[in-house]
Parts: sequence; structure tokens; C-alpha cells
Amino acid sequence: MMSSCKRRLCFLSFLSLLSSLCDCHPHVSRMVGARAASNQTARKVSHIAEEVAGYTDVAKQIIDLAVYGAAQNRSYRRLADFTDTVGNRVSGSQNLEMAIKYMYKAMTQDGLDVHLEPVKIPHWVRGKESAEMISPRVKKLAILGLGSSVGTPPEGIESEVLVVQSFEELKKRSSEAVGKIVVFNQPFVSYGLTVAYRAFGASEAAKVGAVATLIRSITPFSINSPHTGWQDYQDGVKQIPTACITVEDAELMWRMAQRGQKIVVRLTMEAKTLPDADSFNTVAEIKGWQHPEQVVLLSGHLDSWDVGQGAMDDGGGAMISWEALSLIKDLGLRPRRTLRTVLWTGEEQGGVGAQQYFNLHKVNLSNFDLVMESDLGTFTPVALQFTGSDSARKVMEEVVQLLAPINTTKLEAHGEGTDISPWMQAGVPAASLHVADSRYFWFHHSEGDTMTVQNPQDMNLCSALWAVVAYVVADLEKMLDR
Ligand SMILES: *[C@@H]1O[C@H](CO)[C@@H](O)[C@H](O)[C@H]1NC(C)=O
Ligand SMILES: *[C@@H]1O[C@H](CO)[C@@H](O)[C@H](O)[C@H]1NC(C)=O
Ligand SMILES: *[C@@H]1O[C@H](CO)[C@@H](O)[C@H](O)[C@H]1NC(C)=O
Ligand SMILES: *[C@@H]1O[C@H](CO)[C@@H](O)[C@H](O)[C@H]1NC(C)=O
Ligand SMILES: [Zn+2]
Repeated sequence: MMSSCKRRLCFLSFLSLLSSLCDCHPHVSRMVGARAASNQTARKVSHIAEEVAGYTDVAKQIIDLAVYGAAQNRSYRRLADFTDTVGNRVSGSQNLEMAIKYMYKAMTQDGLDVHLEPVKIPHWVRGKESAEMISPRVKKLAILGLGSSVGTPPEGIESEVLVVQSFEELKKRSSEAVGKIVVFNQPFVSYGLTVAYRAFGASEAAKVGAVATLIRSITPFSINSPHTGWQDYQDGVKQIPTACITVEDAELMWRMAQRGQKIVVRLTMEAKTLPDADSFNTVAEIKGWQHPEQVVLLSGHLDSWDVGQGAMDDGGGAMISWEALSLIKDLGLRPRRTLRTVLWTGEEQGGVGAQQYFNLHKVNLSNFDLVMESDLGTFTPVALQFTGSDSARKVMEEVVQLLAPINTTKLEAHGEGTDISPWMQAGVPAASLHVADSRYFWFHHSEGDTMTVQNPQDMNLCSALWAVVAYVVADLEKMLDR
């Protein structure tokens, strides 16, 4: 391997030799026992594979603690206590304020360095809402109004329904839409594609003269419960009330319409948008001993929708991002660079807290080594997703080998996440957690998102993966190449 040593690597090995000769930091000698990787031999190794392999023991210690040891089920218990106590926490709500206070206190008591960073977030309130089919028979429709929707007049909107399966069909039948409530019964293809109906359905229907929209929930599986989410009104288009209905009711009305039955629905919604609210991103750190200004960022969002418990979206991601720091601290480890957990606020409204964090901190862009986000559930982990340069990918390929004891040594092509995307676009290496998420959209943004869908062992594995990756990257001699 050394024979293929590129000039750059040789230069680095020279630098690391120098740093090993001048190891003057006070923490080092105290921590040598716990940190196999910081020994003198490891320092001189130029090849990244060998440098990373030096962390095999410490990775095992982290995994043992999280999966089999004293920290077993801790992230699950923390998530249960948090979501049982606070409940759901939509942007602008008192519950969200409570959630931030709860986490500030809990992470401070855990011995981490915690602070809050103020941001402004949207404040939409649902109010009372209901929908009823009046004709051809009377039937209550379960609905959830969509974030940012306007309300109806107090007496509601009662109108005939036009059922369509796609935006194309709506265009073709635009003359039939005037004055009607448009029901979208689009089939679920994937969340990424199908969510366009939730996001843009209201404005598309308003353009052809509809008075309200009811949209089939964006889910591959249903037991007759509606799923909410954010929606976007297009500038210059009339804002009409919009809500999601269940898959079952969307299909019911589609079948009725196919038979030529005339459907009439009454929709009542009190939804309104208040002035932006004050909130905070919650930040907890273990300061790096050598390069405190350089950062590996771990994250999940603390806000949720105003239904269920927000356990899966994204309480789990927030808790494993805290747990990772706890595991590292409990083992007496302290990496070269700062490990920073950020629990975002206002994610569900389009990464609002995260965007303000980026705007404030981008002056230090070059000091962000890796940004990590978990926001697709904390079920059984299957891989780490990564976006970065080829050279950074080579390093990460080695890092995930340390996860062999939990069988998650796969590095996949693309990191993703609403909250880290500004950093990714600016070229910062990014990683996200890929879990066995086939059930994620069953519960997403619905009353079904509760602790009951979480599993302690899965969360142990997610926490271990998160902690190993963050710790090792933060402790390598060199930041990841851009
Ligand atoms: C020091 O690091 C080398 C290279 O990674 C490793 O083989 C060795 O076991 C480590 N020694 C100690 C005492 O941890
Ligand atoms: C962790 O949870 C699993 C599954 O519920 C259970 O079998 C195990 O006893 C728990 N361990 C601890 C330490 O609570
Ligand atoms: C940027 O980094 C410097 C050096 O670590 C730090 O003092 C400063 O507070 C950082 N600025 C922001 C906005 O994070
Ligand atoms: C990893 O896979 C091995 C072999 O299939 C299995 O024995 C072990 O229990 C797995 N470990 C975890 C944490 O899933
Ligand atoms: Zn989320």
C-alpha cells in the first residue's frame, strides 16, 4: 500500500509525524488508555485505512456500551420520557417551547455543554376542523388540514366534488372544477414524487376555479387515518382551504364519481397563520481538544406535527443525536474536533430553523468537517448515506468498516435531509442514516406516530452507528477533503 502513496498522502504523513513529536495537549496523556487510536504508532501511519483501523477497539467499546452495556435502551427510554411528557410540538406551539426547555435541561444534566440559538419560525394553528359527505350519503370524513392552509368561512364550504387522479386530469377537466371542491385521489408512487399533490394541490386547483381541495394522504398504507404536512401556496394564486383525507375516503369518492354519483361535501376549518414565533435551535457540544473550532455536526429536529407524539418524526433522530454524545462522554472520550449536536426547530415548515443556523454559521463553512442528519426514522439501521468528494468517500468507506459488529458496513451514495441541505449545497461532506424505513410513511405526520412504532434495540443500533461515525471522523488527524 505504501508504494502507491500519493504525494499528498506523503506530505500528510510528514505532518502527522511532526504532530506526534509535539504532543503537548494536556488531555492526551489522560486519555491514551481509552483511545487506542491516539497512540504514537497510529499517528505515524500514513494510510487512511490503517489510521481508521486504529479505531477498531474504541468503536467496539462504543457499540458494546450502546447495544449490550449500561446504555442499552437509554435512547429509547429518553425518547419515551420526552414524547410522553411533552407530546407533539408543532412550530409556534407552547409544546415546542416546553420541548426545547426539556432538552436544554436534560442535556445539561447529562454534563454536556448546552446553549440555545434564537430563530423565528412560522406559527400556523389548526383550530377546529371537520368534513362531512352530505350526498350521496351522509358520512363523516376524517381530515387533517395542511400546514399554512387558510380556513373556511365559519359556516364552512359546502360544494359538489370533482375527483381527479392527477394534475393532468385536473387540467383536462378544468372547466368542471369551477366552484367545486377538488378531491385528489392520486396513487402513491413514492413520498418524494407523490408529495407534490399535498404541496401544490391547493394552488393547482385554485387556478382552475376550485373553492377547496381534499387530498388523499401521502402514504403507501392506511387504516383510515389522515396524514398532515406542509403545503405551499403559489404567489398570485387565490388561497383556498386544503386538507388531507384518508386513502379509503379518497378511493370511496373516486368509485362514486366513476359510477356517476353526485358527491357533495361540507368542509369547515378554523386554520390560520399568526405572526412568526420566537424559537431556538438547541445545541449541545463536546469541545474538541485539538481543533475546537472544527465541527462534526449531528442532528435531528425537535419540532413535529401537531398529531401523534412525533416519536418517529423526528424524536428518534433527535434522541440518537444526543445519545451519541452521551456514549462518547461516558467512555471518557474526547475527539480532536468538536462534536456538536443540533436539535433543529421549525423543520416541518421547510427547514426554517436549520436555514437560519446556516445563514449565521456559514462564515465558518471551512471548519465544518461533516454534517449528519437522521430524519427518516430510527428503525433497524442498514447503511450510512454519504455525499462528498471521492477522497472523503474513501475515508468514509473505511469508517463504516468499524460498524462490522452491528452489520452496517455499507456506505451508500447520497446523504440527504432538509436540515443539512444548505451545508451540502455549499460543499460540506454530509451523512444521513438509512434505516429499514419501509414502514416510515405508514405513520408519518399522523396520529399513528407514537412510541409504539419505536423499538429499543433498533435505537441502540442507530445510536451506536451515529456515535462511532461522528467520533471517528471528529478524531481523525485530518478533516475530510471537500
Ligand atoms: C496503536 O495503534 C496501532 C495502529 O492502529 C495498533 O495496531 C495498536 O494496537 C495500538 N496500540 C495500543 C497500545 O493501543
Ligand atoms: C431493552 O429492551 C429489550 C426489548 O424490549 C429488553 O428485552 C431488554 O431487557 C431491555 N434492556 C434493558 C437494560 O432495559
Ligand atoms: C466562527 O468561528 C470562530 C472561531 O471558532 C468563533 O469564535 C465564532 O464564534 C464562529 N462564528 C459563528 C457565527 O459561529
Ligand atoms: C450481525 O450478523 C451476525 C451474523 O449474521 C449475527 O450473528 C449478529 O447477531 C448480527 N449483529 C447484530 C447487532 O445485528
Ligand atoms: Zn422529519
